[in-house]
Amino acid sequence: MPILDPRDRLIVALDLPSVSEAEAMVARLGEAVTFYKVGMELTYAGGLDFARDLARSGKKVFLDLKLHDIGTTVEKATARVADLGATYLTVHAFPQTMKAAVRGKGSSPLRILAVTVMTSYDDADLVEAGYAMGVKDLVARRALQAREAGVDGLILSPEEVGAMRALLGPGMDLVTPGIRPASAEKGDQKRVMTPADAIRAGADRLVVGRPITQAADPKAAAEAVVKDIAAA
Ligand code: C5P
Repeated sequence: MPILDPRDRLIVALDLPSVSEAEAMVARLGEAVTFYKVGMELTYAGGLDFARDLARSGKKVFLDLKLHDIGTTVEKATARVADLGATYLTVHAFPQTMKAAVRGKGSSPLRILAVTVMTSYDDADLVEAGYAMGVKDLVARRALQAREAGVDGLILSPEEVGAMRALLGPGMDLVTPGIRPASAEKGDQKRVMTPADAIRAGADRLVVGRPITQAADPKAAAEAVVKDIAAA
């Protein structure tokens, strides 16, 4: 990945229940934030038109839809997401799904991110779901399959980033949630890293939600994260 402005490494998660609240947050953050993640909650509350408008206004948009379906459906859905002007789209890291998404984005600038193993899963959850390997091995296996499929990057927890950067080398975008500035509440995130530590571990971009969107001064909170990124 080319050298990025520290500001462009921050992706703010707009995990908000309505388009009007998302619009108000984007207005408050102003020039401090260039990249937004729109997830399922906002998508199912009219957020796709909002995402299109946000992209047209010059912001970068990450649609966190975690697609997983038969190949044809994933391919066509991905093509429609590319039409919206999104920069990132997530899919689950199943080989058929990843290959279909890569076909669907075609020559558009959309970049596909694969979700290897949900961080809410541990080894026991994988056994229960019928898998014969633990989380660490499955993450590594799927990361290599993602690269093989032509996927552009991965969503990883902060503690996976270092090992995956070492495994994959510099080619893929490694994007990391679970970021908490040293001063912030952890919320329901159990394994967290500060922005600077995650960048040092090899992350390209960081997804930060509540530490910014629920701060008394969201813009100041975003600027503090960018400063921490720049320090790394
Ligand atoms: O508010 P917070 O900073 O915890 O938000 C992090 C965002 O990243 C949320 O949108 C959450 O769904 C997403 N995410 C995560 N952990 C993962 C994958 C996605 O926190 N493993």
